[in-house]
Amino acid sequence: MSLHDKIPNNVDLNHDRRLQKALEKWQPKFVEWWTDMGPEGFQANDVYLRTAVSVEKDGWADFRYVKMPDYRWGIFLTPEEKHRPVGFGDMINVPSFENVPGEFRNSLRRLIVTQGDTEPASVEQQRLLGQCCPSLYDLRNLFQVNVEEGRHLWAMVYLLHRYFGRDGREEADELLERRSGNADKPRILEAFNQPIDDWLSFFCFTMFVDRDGKFQLAALAESGFSPLRRTTRFMLTEEAYHLFVGDTGISRIVRRSAQLHKESNGDPIGLGGIPLHIIQRYINYWFTYSLDLFGGEISSNAADFFASGLKGRYNEEKKFQDHVANEGFVDIPVVEGGTLTNRQVPTRNAMNELLRDEYISDSENAIRRWNKVIASEGVDFELTLPHRRFHRHKGEYAGHYFDTDGAIVTEGVYRAKASEILPSEEDYALVKSLMVQVTKPGQMANWICPPKQGIDGQPLEFEYVRLN
Ligand SMILES: [Fe+2]
Ligand SMILES: [Fe+2]
Repeated sequence: MSLHDKIPNNVDLNHDRRLQKALEKWQPKFVEWWTDMGPEGFQANDVYLRTAVSVEKDGWADFRYVKMPDYRWGIFLTPEEKHRPVGFGDMINVPSFENVPGEFRNSLRRLIVTQGDTEPASVEQQRLLGQCCPSLYDLRNLFQVNVEEGRHLWAMVYLLHRYFGRDGREEADELLERRSGNADKPRILEAFNQPIDDWLSFFCFTMFVDRDGKFQLAALAESGFSPLRRTTRFMLTEEAYHLFVGDTGISRIVRRSAQLHKESNGDPIGLGGIPLHIIQRYINYWFTYSLDLFGGEISSNAADFFASGLKGRYNEEKKFQDHVANEGFVDIPVVEGGTLTNRQVPTRNAMNELLRDEYISDSENAIRRWNKVIASEGVDFELTLPHRRFHRHKGEYAGHYFDTDGAIVTEGVYRAKASEILPSEEDYALVKSLMVQVTKPGQMANWICPPKQGIDGQPLEFEYVRLN
């Protein structure tokens, strides 16, 4: 572990002078990007952050006050399991790839660039949120997520520089040149071009979009390309906290909304709360955008990634017996002549859909937990997840209209109901009007409950961000 090098790492960077030099040349560009596009208005403040300092299960993180531009973004791969072979696909049981096999070079680069692009994108999307944070605790969590997305960018850039030569270096530069929501140079995936202007959106994003990240990273953590497997394994350790921020953030809002519903007999707006049906609409919006991130229901790319041992299924090693998956079919409803009909899709071509299944069931668990919170406050309201076909922009269901139960409907019916189902301009305006910055240690905005506990054993009143 070289923690005190210019670039902290456990990949023996100082034994590869060329690579080290190339990354040290990229580093100031990254810092410049961070200064321009990172959290606005807080770059000079001390933030109580965790920094990855090891890949051991216990004690991998170090907590202390850091100014964000001084954060120690490092490159960490989990140790390689000895002689681990490729675990699935056509190359099953051959030794793991330590280098990029020539025939997979383009697809692998695409996978890494697409993952890498999401990391800075989310930092850009969230850069103004500090100005309307509900508490210092939440402000610190926002910044924690942001700096770790920065580290995830480093993780992908390391792979590009180390394994893809000049192409990789160019891709690494372009990762700092695209901008979320920019018409000329947008980020690659649509969910990462959507604005995040309020904290309900932020929590939905970390709940649903980062959760897509969890499943993508988990599928890559099965990869036969060893460096990709090892880097994504470690990213998952950090990612778990991002999901926690989203899940508990929504849960705290849901609880507060339920309390204010009760106090106000069903109209919490007057008491400064967010109505539960608006939370539902935000969930509908972000959940469905996240579903798009899994790619087409029927995908020859997904089949190729699996065949070549690059991207597995969720828990491929633990959960499945047949790692070749060359037989069998998955029934996928598709639209034909205006109605839904089942199509039998070879398992390998349905890999995106299988990963989406896992994601949906994981999301359903959260919905159940939030509904328990609402019930425990004595309010009669249930949150639901919309059907996977509703409001899709990619894949088989894009370009068609479905209701939230997945039934096909006409455009007219869809549009007539849209304002009840997706956030309206008024909803956004209302939520935004509640976003007033709260920065007194221990204080909480009225529309959200305090968390159960503080960070790293610190009390809630702890000064998680020093503002002066
Ligand atoms: Fe990330
Ligand atoms: Fe994340």
